Amino acid sequence: EDAALVDAFEARVAADEFIEPKDWMPEAYRKTLIRQISQHAHSEIVGMLPEGNWITRAPSLRRKAVLLAKVQDEGGHGLYLYCAAETLGVGRDELIEDLHSGKAKYSTIFNYPTLTWADIGAIGWLVDGAAIMNQVPLQRTSYGPYARAMIRVCKEESFHQRQGYEIMMALMDGTEAQKAMAQDALNRWWWPSLMMFGPPDDNSPNTAQSMRWRIKRETNDQLRQRFVDATVPQAEAIDLRVPDDALAWNEERGHYDFGEIDWEEFYSVIRGEGPVARERMQARRKAWDEGAWVRDAANAYAAKAAARKEA
Ligand code: ACO
Repeated sequence: EDAALVDAFEARVAADEFIEPKDWMPEAYRKTLIRQISQHAHSEIVGMLPEGNWITRAPSLRRKAVLLAKVQDEGGHGLYLYCAAETLGVGRDELIEDLHSGKAKYSTIFNYPTLTWADIGAIGWLVDGAAIMNQVPLQRTSYGPYARAMIRVCKEESFHQRQGYEIMMALMDGTEAQKAMAQDALNRWWWPSLMMFGPPDDNSPNTAQSMRWRIKRETNDQLRQRFVDATVPQAEAIDLRVPDDALAWNEERGHYDFGEIDWEEFYSVIRGEGPVARERMQARRKAWDEGAWVRDAANAYAAKAAARKEA
């Protein structure tokens, strides 16, 4: 690559300018963005499945309407992100094919089952809470279309986080059985939520370069720590116990110390061995196949409209 172009690109990134689709960029920067943005898009779309599972069983009409809107928002986030990836010269069909063939990654968190209604509270509170921690800094990521997509996504995610916490509050204000259900959901979702931030920094192959390019603005461990610091007091406020015996406030560091994450579990879920990984991909492929007629009809309509315009 032309050294002068690379220098000019790096100077723009260092000055916190946004890089736009038609600007020159190093091929490796483009590839890294396609990788991260498409994985992010897939996560939003696959993320509709665990919660979609509870729409028909939500305990009241209000809860059903809220959950329906929330799951629909996640679909919208996936669409903005696929659009942002497309500005880098990759086709959406290709991205979706990679997801369905098992070639593309998506967040480990969506390979765990939603067993009770409390899981819907835990997902909003913890999973969307973790997503916000990760996505707020991405509003300043160096690639313009990705940064702009994150602004609306973050607004919606903060509503999602609060609706999840509110479900947990209602359960913790309920019967003994409801409290036990909320605690059980926290027990099962806590560790997988910490894994969402990715491997520890010293084991994260992409972090150093992505920080230099300002694609990532903070490291996996920094964000994970911030999430723990913000979430532990929220658990305490409603009498939930975080399932970690090593958890303790460290006065000197001004942060919570926490226990060791089971990285074996993380890597096995990445390899596609998560508890419901197969069901997730089956559901995605089924939706894609059964939706073929909608895509065909939309294409036929667009072709007709274009022909009419020409005539
Ligand atoms: N689930 C699945 N794969 C993961 C996860 C995870 N929780 N964490 C890391 N990985 C993968 C990375 O994608 C990378 O794989 P690849 O090189 O084959 O693409 C590998 O593990 C090594 O990790 P890192 O070097 O740390 O990778 P990276 O710098 O991309 O950091 C991170 C990972 C933090 C997830 C980053 O990509 C990111 O910030 N993405 C945007 C946010 C996002 O995708 N959120 C999705 C969940 S939130 C939601 O959808 C509601």
